[in-house]
Amino acid sequence: MHIKTITSQPYSDQKPGTSGLRKKVRVFQQPHYLENFVQSIFNCLDDIEGQTLVLGGDGRYYNKTAIQIIIKMAAAAGFKRLLVGQNGLLSTPAVSILIRKYQTLGGIILSASHNPGGPDDDFGIKYNTRNGGPAPETITDHIYDISCSLTEYKIAELPDTDLERCGITCVEGLEIEVIDPVTDYAELMEHLFDFNSIKSLFGSGHFSICFDAMHAITGPYAIEILEHRLGAIAGSVINASPLEDFGGHHPDPNLAHATELVTKMNGCKAPDLGAASDGDGDRNMVLGPNFFITPSDSLAVIAANAHLLPGYPNGLSGVARSMPTSMAVDRVAERLGIVSYETPTGWKFFGNLLDTGRITICGEESFGTGSDHTREKDGLWAVLFWLNLIAIKQKSVETIMLEHWQQYGRNFYCRYDYEGVDKTAAESIMQDLRKNSAELAGTRYGNYLIMTCDDFRYTDPVDNSVSEHQGIRILFDNGARIVLRLSGTGTVGATLRLYFEQYEYDPQKHKLDTPEILQPLIEIAREITQLEKKLGRDQPSVIT
Ligand code: G1P
Ligand code: ZN
Repeated sequence: MHIKTITSQPYSDQKPGTSGLRKKVRVFQQPHYLENFVQSIFNCLDDIEGQTLVLGGDGRYYNKTAIQIIIKMAAAAGFKRLLVGQNGLLSTPAVSILIRKYQTLGGIILSASHNPGGPDDDFGIKYNTRNGGPAPETITDHIYDISCSLTEYKIAELPDTDLERCGITCVEGLEIEVIDPVTDYAELMEHLFDFNSIKSLFGSGHFSICFDAMHAITGPYAIEILEHRLGAIAGSVINASPLEDFGGHHPDPNLAHATELVTKMNGCKAPDLGAASDGDGDRNMVLGPNFFITPSDSLAVIAANAHLLPGYPNGLSGVARSMPTSMAVDRVAERLGIVSYETPTGWKFFGNLLDTGRITICGEESFGTGSDHTREKDGLWAVLFWLNLIAIKQKSVETIMLEHWQQYGRNFYCRYDYEGVDKTAAESIMQDLRKNSAELAGTRYGNYLIMTCDDFRYTDPVDNSVSEHQGIRILFDNGARIVLRLSGTGTVGATLRLYFEQYEYDPQKHKLDTPEILQPLIEIAREITQLEKKLGRDQPSVIT
């Protein structure tokens, strides 16, 4: 195999964020930009020789180009075998599952998750390690350090690989296997869930689903699993074909972006279950007719009922949620007598807890839920969980949720995002809060008394690594919370996120509107931070 060494200049902006390196496509198209980052990943790994790498992406614009480059660079780096998704496609949870099943060294995922795609939009690349999970900060920091001084990369002179047909190609000692993206994933789902009872649910003729794949990666997965294996009627999966620009939409499963699904679910003759997943298949949204399940509540319901499902016969060892996620799951954990860990935002912080068996289920308010079956959040898994639960309980989505609240109380919750704002202004809001945190404690706003204001800091209980400045928490004496943090995944300016939460035990109040309950907290946040004046915005860009 002829390997070329190409001289390059280091780029100074290749620091991975919450979930890999995400930039505009045009940034990735700069000379040697992608190659430099890929070489930095490979230089960070010291045992590549003879190993296998999983490779695939969400099919967004530049996926096809990038995958051919990475195949050639992986060949030059000394990998023995590459497992590549057909047409370059693999969902993020599927990559994680493949790494674990075939015990590969790791995997590279090409995705910018829920960010829009196309020549003027976003692309991303992420490395996952041997456990199937996103590389921890120690590794991503190392990759970044290498990228800052990288002066050359290696690439094999190979023809492009035919990714359209599944099968094995051997090129001078390198085995490139193009695999069906869905098969291994679907097999694992059959093991975790009771497919027969879900089949009976669909077979009864009284139950229907609408799954919005948002023209992203879960289309082929949802068609195969929901329609072919579980018997949901043809057409249950909408927007099923992955497109390079996701049809011009944000492939983000929330009330603001999954508009087609939301309209169906709020209309007459709505399906019994509505669901959607994001660009790379790791997020999920679950809806009943005219009824939205917050991801935090979904996590709590999943934790409370996991023991009923075939994949979790021994119940849960523990649970975890990211700090801004509502505390609903903590109440379930308390009743089950298990620990609920509070981690910084980002799936990578769950890795050690899952690997050491400390937790079985985890989730984030940002439409992410998962379990120890993989090391990524898993959109379709969450939908299958709800389907299986409905099949067991023979109750509607709404009834399951209302009964859960009756038992545990309800954590009213919402998130405000101020997207693409001035970075300096956003940072100064955070800085001012840090400076004033001591004075804020003890301040009263109407019925709300601030108990503490702190900057979340996490010590990983497994490796004792410390992550600081993970978001500001304003905690009130009645259990309410306001959390503020800056996004680590945006690609333009800064995105400031505000999270509001208030607990209500009284079942009479469970059907009240979230905005009504949270309005006082929202006003307090406005008053304390003056954020709308400082950011020059009178409204958040998105409310979820
Ligand atoms: C966002 C979410 C976070 C999630 C990440 C990747 O990160 O808030 O929970 O893990 O996307 O999907 P953020 O932009 O807030 O840093
Ligand atoms: Zn995603």
